[in-house]
Amino acid sequence: MNKGTLKTAVVYYSFDGNCALVAEAIKSRINADVFAIKTADEKKRTGLGKYIWGGRQVFQHAKPDLKPLSVNIDAYDLIILGAPVWAGSPAPAMVSFLSRTPFDGKKTAVFCCHGGGKGKALEKFKALLAGNTIAGEIDFNNPARGNTEALRKKIDAWAASLEVLLL
Ligand SMILES: Cc1cc2nc3c(=O)[nH]c(=O)nc-3n(C[C@H](O)[C@H](O)[C@H](O)COP(=O)(O)O)c2cc1C
Repeated sequence: MNKGTLKTAVVYYSFDGNCALVAEAIKSRINADVFAIKTADEKKRTGLGKYIWGGRQVFQHAKPDLKPLSVNIDAYDLIILGAPVWAGSPAPAMVSFLSRTPFDGKKTAVFCCHGGGKGKALEKFKALLAGNTIAGEIDFNNPARGNTEALRKKIDAWAASLEVLLL
């Protein structure tokens, strides 16, 4: 297997665009198919209400309904999963996706976006993927607010480490 034949999918959820930015940056670094998880409820929330609404879902272990997403994970050698941190956990939409998608014995890697307090989100993310190989993990602090060149370099280095591990 080499860079040319390694099939990679990036499956992410993003509420405010940060994880979407990371997913697209990964796609421009490695040849990956990108899939966005969307909740059935697409109402935009802002301000304090957004944190109360989202935090409540985490504390209630909610698994929100999702829009249909057609991704055949068995068609990929590596599946990179990305989600924002909500109340110290991967956002509920990712929990929903993983609870509905049979993942077993797959090679995966995880990323999360946060605002500076990721807590144990990556550990929780990896726990949701028990039974699979986790080839890498990385986190980003609100990348949409930062320097695009720095983001590109960070993703380049991470993608290179994943490729080395997977070759
Ligand atoms: C409901 C909610 C809860 C959040 N909880 C946390 C948190 O516990 N720690 C943190 O660092 N950031 C937290 N954030 C900030 C997001 O993780 C951060 O802005 C992230 O970059 C958003 O990714 P997105 O733009 O892809 O949605 C929270 C955001 C929301 C909406």
